[in-house]
Amino acid sequence: MTQAFPADFLWGGAIAANQVEGAYLTDGKGLSTSDLQPRGIFGEITERHEGDSGIKDLAIDFYHRYPEDIALFAEMGFTCLRISIAWTRIFPQGDEEQPNEAGLAFYDRVFDEMAKHNITPLVTLSHYEMPYGLVKNHGGWGSRDTIGFFTRYARTVFQRYGAKVKHWLTFNEINMSLHAPFTGVGLPEASSKSEIYQAIHHQLVASAAAVKALHEIIPDGKIGNMLLGGLLYPLTCKPEDVLETQRQNRDWLFFGDVQARGYYPAYMNRYFRENNIQIEITDEDRETLKETIDFISFSYYMSGCVTTDEAQNQKARGNILNMVPNPHLASSDWGWQIDPVGLRILLNLLWDRYQKPLFIVENGLGAKDKIEADGTIQDDYRIQYLNDHLVQVGEAIEDGVEVMGYTAWGPIDLVSASKAELSKRYGFIYVDRDDNGEGSLERRRKKSFSWYQEVIRSKGKSL
Ligand code: BG6
Repeated sequence: MTQAFPADFLWGGAIAANQVEGAYLTDGKGLSTSDLQPRGIFGEITERHEGDSGIKDLAIDFYHRYPEDIALFAEMGFTCLRISIAWTRIFPQGDEEQPNEAGLAFYDRVFDEMAKHNITPLVTLSHYEMPYGLVKNHGGWGSRDTIGFFTRYARTVFQRYGAKVKHWLTFNEINMSLHAPFTGVGLPEASSKSEIYQAIHHQLVASAAAVKALHEIIPDGKIGNMLLGGLLYPLTCKPEDVLETQRQNRDWLFFGDVQARGYYPAYMNRYFRENNIQIEITDEDRETLKETIDFISFSYYMSGCVTTDEAQNQKARGNILNMVPNPHLASSDWGWQIDPVGLRILLNLLWDRYQKPLFIVENGLGAKDKIEADGTIQDDYRIQYLNDHLVQVGEAIEDGVEVMGYTAWGPIDLVSASKAELSKRYGFIYVDRDDNGEGSLERRRKKSFSWYQEVIRSKGKSL
């Protein structure tokens, strides 16, 4: 039991357009990079042809079922729902002068539905999908022109939804481009380090340009970045291991450093020099980067270790990152190591580093669920995972960390990002659909549904 959570703490869940909406070509939507990855981020990249189908094309049909789903979130007591806008609904090819009205109208309906239930929207501008037209015709984020296309998109949605949406995020897990360049920046997987960092640079400039636009267009709004919180520990206390861990943590903290401080950290100069990475940064870019985010948001699922001992450097794939397993931790069915204390460590680390409010916008357990003979789903493992992590959030708040809110990942079962699986379930709400696309799409409350409802009702006191 904890007393720590403030009265205005935002409680809720997080979803992403490409993992829930389906309707992948409806109402003028264009193809996104996600549509070309029917088997997920780690599957093959394929051109789409007439008659093809993929699990995400329908996903969980949120595009048509959002009123029912939002009502279920409201029943749990959500005060916040994180969604993303599919950029391709607004600018189907990415480089149009004028937005697609049918796409804009869809999100108006979604935000109005949330308002009916007093749910605060938290909106990601780009979550693992960009218009494929920009990749094909402009070279994705490799092109400086994409900064302008993205800024036009950001300004369009800020102008349209400014009265309804006050909380925004720029790029989901912006640091993931180092590990999955096609998903992150629309570049071929085999791109060089210079090409990837150049594209990342364009994205960082675009992120800052969006922050500037938000502050102009929605003066009472707030905008954050979004980091994949890839916390790494040294496998041993050998100084070389500790030093290498610091270096590898900087691989992802670099993004937060630029977005929160407004300039490139000095350690990157040495990194670029020693790795022969050359990128173009103009004076205008440096000016734009000075526009810093209002808060830091991040995902947290697991931690991992670092070693300089080659014999022990056996990495396992987790949430996008490859990390050396920690001998002190258990793992999920998908091999992701479970580390609630790591969340407290991470919150303190980010608070000490940036002194900006923090928002945990993803955390959860992907697991196989079973429907019992009586129709119930007894997902005690999920309750345990979430409970243990939320207890640590409470501890961090007691430590003095300013935490704005917590949105559990996938409050309703959705298509997983890495492998496009539906059997990997995160939800408080079960969706009847399997990996082959079979199922009625019926929604069903799991045991964790009433558990989370009570956590929110009691403002964390039931933990
Ligand atoms: C995060 C992403 O990396 O992890 C989500 O932002 C994703 O989109 C989540 O779904 C969990 O990963 P997965 O592969 O289990 O869906």
